Amino acid sequence: MNHLFCFGLGYCGQALADVLAQQGWKISGTTRDGGCLENLRNKHFSAYLFDAETPLPDNALDEVTHILLSIPPGELGDPVFLEHGADLAARAKNLKWVGYLSTTGVYGDRQGGWVDENSSLTPSTKRGEKRLKAETDWLSLYENAGLPVHLFRLAGIYGPGSNQLEKVAAGTARRRIKPGQVFSRIHVDDIVGMLIASMSMPDPGRAYNLCDDEAIPPQDVVTYAAQLLGVEPPEEIAFEPKDMTPMGLSFFAESKRVSNQRIKDELGYVLKYPTYREGLTALLPTIADRH
Ligand SMILES: NC(=O)c1ccc[n+]([C@@H]2O[C@H](COP(=O)([O-])OP(=O)(O)OC[C@H]3O[C@@H](n4cnc5c(N)ncnc54)[C@H](OP(=O)(O)O)[C@@H]3O)[C@@H](O)[C@H]2O)c1
Repeated sequence: MNHLFCFGLGYCGQALADVLAQQGWKISGTTRDGGCLENLRNKHFSAYLFDAETPLPDNALDEVTHILLSIPPGELGDPVFLEHGADLAARAKNLKWVGYLSTTGVYGDRQGGWVDENSSLTPSTKRGEKRLKAETDWLSLYENAGLPVHLFRLAGIYGPGSNQLEKVAAGTARRRIKPGQVFSRIHVDDIVGMLIASMSMPDPGRAYNLCDDEAIPPQDVVTYAAQLLGVEPPEEIAFEPKDMTPMGLSFFAESKRVSNQRIKDELGYVLKYPTYREGLTALLPTIADRH
């Protein structure tokens, strides 16, 4: 029986787990939150508390066939690699597939230029540097122990409950203008589709960019979301570093166009939502129901 273990049953992890559970897979995974633990167990997932100070019980990874790594690195590095990397390496022969969710931040700033998976890895933020270190650590277990690791470099994630329609409807959307800024996105359903495509065609050691076909200025998505909702978009405001959270600042620190040709050529993947326009249009009913 296929058995997925998600280190971090968060937004992407649960989206993947829900689809595979429907197909009869056994699902296990982690959270740091006691309330979330209960919700996961109510879905019949085997859920465990895990963080840098709370390792898994010894038998939690027995009979696991696939692993999704979706926890971002902390100050000391990737908590899963630090706590369970050696354990996973020792189980390499029993694992069919391991996927690490990384970010396109490992390419750094390209001032609007293109990157693909062969581009140099030159992160321009501390967050990007930590990601690159985590990627390198996981790849070392492929190279040294045969752990079937695949790297997935994700663009900005959106989907049900987390998208610019929600922010416009809640009055929290901002149209911050930074000339020359472009950014790539990916709908969570396409992340799930691409991960499953990779599982059916494993190629350990390979990296894939997961993004849609169109990198555009962030404010264009807000404008389109407002149009769909039939409301005025928020005022345009100039980008001001002092008004930004650290997460927002790292988002605006980099401008690039990310190629998704490899997932099309090598995994034969056809995007369900090729741009934010199809993605947001499909999400509109989820907003209309609530607002
Ligand atoms: N959001 C984006 O646009 C974006 C873009 C590119 C890449 N990414 C990366 O892609 C991955 C998946 O994204 P996502 O949106 O699915 O993330 P998410 O919803 O925040 O889920 C992350 C999961 O990791 C767990 N986690 C976080 N920090 C942890 C820690 N220090 N120790 C143990 N567990 C920890 C969380 O546990 P809890 O359940 O306790 O919260 C959660 O289950 C993340 O690594 C994210 O950084 C995100």
